[in-house]
Amino acid sequence: MATVTGSIGVLNRIRMPKTVGFSKSQRKFDCKRSASFAAATIAGTAASVSVEVPELNSTLEKNGKSSEYSDTLFNLACPICYKPFASRGDPQVTLASTIGSGVECYTCKKLYFQNETYLDLTIASGFEEYSETMPATTEIFRNPLVPFLYERGWRQSFILDGFPGPEREFKMAQNYLKPATGGTLVDASCGSGLFSRLFARSGMYSHVVALDFSENMLRQCHEYIKQENIPKENLILVRADISRLPFVSNSIDGVHAGAALHCWPSPSAAVAEISRILRPGGIFVATTYIYDFIAVPVFRALREFYIRATSNHLYISERELEDLCRACGLVGFKCVRNGPFVMISASKPVC
Ligand SMILES: C[S@@+](CC[C@H](N)C(=O)[O-])C[C@H]1O[C@@H](n2cnc3c(N)ncnc32)[C@H](O)[C@@H]1O
Repeated sequence: MATVTGSIGVLNRIRMPKTVGFSKSQRKFDCKRSASFAAATIAGTAASVSVEVPELNSTLEKNGKSSEYSDTLFNLACPICYKPFASRGDPQVTLASTIGSGVECYTCKKLYFQNETYLDLTIASGFEEYSETMPATTEIFRNPLVPFLYERGWRQSFILDGFPGPEREFKMAQNYLKPATGGTLVDASCGSGLFSRLFARSGMYSHVVALDFSENMLRQCHEYIKQENIPKENLILVRADISRLPFVSNSIDGVHAGAALHCWPSPSAAVAEISRILRPGGIFVATTYIYDFIAVPVFRALREFYIRATSNHLYISERELEDLCRACGLVGFKCVRNGPFVMISASKPVC
């Protein structure tokens, strides 16, 4: 989707998507830090806007550079209080995020850091003393070797379990993601961005958020984006925990999660979060591994043992997946299977 850019000097680029085709829930901007914030709502036509954000300008000048990615904050929210970084009251939002500084939650007063690669919206962002280890299925992807290997054979090996291969998988996902066309798509647990890059390149979404917990996966994603010259205007890289998604409730048009559900520490907490952030009519599409022998009690017991030992929810049945979506308030469950591979979709009901 087209975006228009207003600029002040060399730095303060504020991108304003056309009203038509942007996220269906329009965000607004909190003027506290921007006495002279000016914005235009553009009805159907592209236009350039100039904005003055004095405080941010000085931060930008101090730091000397801004992120190359979209600096729009649109539907992003503080993962502690879920209040938007940009609040209701003004026309379409935006706030330049800057390397070395970050964004501050007006309510919690917490500063979330941004480096040249991603915006860190984990609760742990800024912890100095306290540290927390995630389950192994999350931690393993933080190891630098895994992102390096991931698209150099690791991901391709999923074909052995019935995954159709990235190109076909992308087309299947896009088909399910039609309700998100023109809106904001979150590629949750994007890894090295295999699908985020394809989504961004497709031009089908006003914004693509490549989101993962692993810093190294996001760095690898950034490398591929550079190598492949993927347009960055509608792309943002965010570090976040799937169980604490940094988005405003009812604001996201689509969430895609490729081969990740079985890696999440709590699939129910994750799907509940996905359900929270989806707008009514918004769509969730995911791929994972499915094993129906779980219906047999002995295997179910063994599975419980396996999950407790590994935190890996690899062995999940179709009925369980449907139940998971329904329990989290999603409807219209669909699935396509090929051996252990499954692609599911479900949407947030329109009230
Ligand atoms: C197998 S990779 C999938 C990558 C990509 N989506 C794909 O289709 O190939 C699983 C991803 O889930 C991410 N992940 C694991 N736990 C997570 C969590 N708690 N929050 C967010 N992402 C998580 C990992 O960092 C990893 O990148």
